[in-house]
Amino acid sequence: MLIAKTIKQAKKAISEAKLKNRTIGFVPTMGALHYGHLSLVRAARKSCDFVAVSIFVNPAQFGPKEDFRKYPRAFIRDERLLQKEKVDLIFYPSVAEMYPKDFSTYVEEIYLSKPLCGLIRPGHFRGVCTVVAKLFNIIEPDTAYFGQKDYQQACIIKRMVKDLNFPVTVKVVSTVREKDGLAMSSRNAYLNCQERKDALVLFESIELAKKLVRGGGKNPKKIIAKMRKLILSKKSAKIDYIEIVDAQSLQKVDKMQKNVLIAIAVYIGKTRLIDNVIVHLKGS
Ligand code: PAF
Repeated sequence: MLIAKTIKQAKKAISEAKLKNRTIGFVPTMGALHYGHLSLVRAARKSCDFVAVSIFVNPAQFGPKEDFRKYPRAFIRDERLLQKEKVDLIFYPSVAEMYPKDFSTYVEEIYLSKPLCGLIRPGHFRGVCTVVAKLFNIIEPDTAYFGQKDYQQACIIKRMVKDLNFPVTVKVVSTVREKDGLAMSSRNAYLNCQERKDALVLFESIELAKKLVRGGGKNPKKIIAKMRKLILSKKSAKIDYIEIVDAQSLQKVDKMQKNVLIAIAVYIGKTRLIDNVIVHLKGS
């Protein structure tokens, strides 16, 4: 397994792999890896000859008051995990390598980025698109893997790929959950014991919504109200948003339709967690 800290080193490894006609699978991450990330790596390992993983905590996607500084960093542990998964290349650049002093070009998707997390974290998806576009240009993957937990991010990346003609297939892999249902996230590490228990309410509330929709619930407002009540039964919980939107356009729906995304962002103490579920309704 090669560790490239510079763009030049990464590009050299990639061109050598391409010369050998190897297909490139790519998993972009910010490190502090968990089984959610490893499921993406495994999906890449299964379908591609050469697997590259980037580890880069991207300052451009954090707001000024967000957790860029305290975001967990665990390179030695990550390296060990990726070695076990038989990853071929880790791209582990510094901030200066990715954003030199005179950096002044950003990539912005302007439709799918507006609702949900985009409303509350202005500039977040611009930072994500910019870094992913750079990473795609450096790694030149055939296929790139993203998790469903960040569903909006995956939709935006797919749109960016289509709009800007990146020759990349984007695959979205199901959310990996802890045994009790909490979606795996690097930010779960911030939770104390009580908060970890309270955090389960995210999963419980989307399960409740799924059940209500499948049971014929037609009114998103009523479903959201029930989710809100359940979430607020936990002292440490503060709701950022609860939305029921069309799973393709991410725009709000006023009645249930074929494919809806139920998406939530909730603070548990000081930790902001997200989760979602897509409900497919037959024949509506
Ligand atoms: O999902 C993430 O970890 C990040 O947003 C990504 C895609 C690695 C870009 O920094």
